[in-house]
Amino acid sequence: MKNILVTGGAGFIGSAFVRRMVQRYPEFHIITFDKLTYAGNLDNLLPVKDAPNHTFVRADIADREAVRATLEQYSVDTIVNFAAESHVDRSILDPDAFIRTDVFGVYTLLDVGRQHGIGRFLQVSTDEVYGDVHEGFSVETDPFLPNSPYAASKAAGELMVRSYFVTYGMDTVVTRGSNTYGYYQYPEKLIPFFITEALDDRPLPVYGDGRQVRDWLHVDDHASGVEVVLLHGKSGEAYNIAGEDLRYNIDVTHALLKLLGKPETLIKHVPDRPGHDRRYAMNADKLKALGWQRQMTFEQGLAATVQWYQDNAWWWRKIKTGEYLEYYKRQYAARLANATNVSS
Ligand code: NAD
Ligand code: DAU
Repeated sequence: MKNILVTGGAGFIGSAFVRRMVQRYPEFHIITFDKLTYAGNLDNLLPVKDAPNHTFVRADIADREAVRATLEQYSVDTIVNFAAESHVDRSILDPDAFIRTDVFGVYTLLDVGRQHGIGRFLQVSTDEVYGDVHEGFSVETDPFLPNSPYAASKAAGELMVRSYFVTYGMDTVVTRGSNTYGYYQYPEKLIPFFITEALDDRPLPVYGDGRQVRDWLHVDDHASGVEVVLLHGKSGEAYNIAGEDLRYNIDVTHALLKLLGKPETLIKHVPDRPGHDRRYAMNADKLKALGWQRQMTFEQGLAATVQWYQDNAWWWRKIKTGEYLEYYKRQYAARLANATNVSS
């Protein structure tokens, strides 16, 4: 392993992985390959901008020729694929791009990678492939029951990876991460969206009763889980990366308001997300057996994240313009018009 292509490395989790690997492994050349969609952001890579072992390439994982040329130019021997359309609400509004990137893009990377003779291929996947988990904790052998177009596109991408392992003997591994939060997260996802809205005294639209459960994982713990699986995971296997910090959305919202010193009157209960999974929960024993351990508790991580968004308005204020405002209108205008203040 020497020349590692990190696709989607300008996004939230991908950039945490790139920053980590560039700093920890000067002997590796990390090539970030990213289309820079609305979610891709070169500011996320500023800390490694001048690193001699990092290169950035702007391209699309579904573009076979661009992938081929990059693998060849940089003698790539390893691929870590973070690239995806990643937001559930956008997949409900417009599923098209999700199929193109999360399914066809994964296939393209696999197929060109196989022809190029790459070694390890790591696919970054999600707990959403298991669907709604009413009780207990998902293990890696559980069936896929995805419920949103996003979750289905990620499950389909994973199945392509499996087929390349079984049929062509490619060295593949998969990670399934839980809900991730932390610095540099695009402010459409619950935690950065609510922090940045509350800072401006704007309403926080909680879907339904807010009693959906998510398992929260700090972004640096997610990145270290991917690192461990890349270096030590068994070929053909999948590994859950779970924060093991389960919380109701409404409790996360109250905790954020408390940290920010903002009033609870900002909370607005709005009509629910269609097909909304009630609970995700995973067992991470298989990854722990490789030596991985979560470092950040949710309480520590949430406080640090709130502080980061308070200190780095330069990063998120320029995002919350243009396309972002169009999306905000489509996603929230009608919902907020039907909001209630029921306290939970
Ligand atoms: P993100 O939306 O912040 O970043 C996605 C990145 O992929 C962006 O930089 C974007 O420009 C790039 N990209 C999108 N389409 C591309 C294409 N066709 N070609 C090249 N680059 C493209 O996403 P994230 O939250 O950092 O998630 C990264 C990965 O982790 C995704 O695969 C996601 O499914 C998975 N995941 C996310 C979470 C989470 O809570 N955020 C949890 C588990 C798994
Ligand atoms: O579980 C892993 C997944 O976590 C990743 O695969 C996805 O890429 C990532 O987006 C995330 O999906 P969720 O749908 O769980 O995350 P999101 O931040 O969109 O929402 C978290 C919870 O908060 C969910 O139950 C919906 C709710 N929510 C979200 C938003 C944006 C609200 O109540 N109001 C909101 O405005």
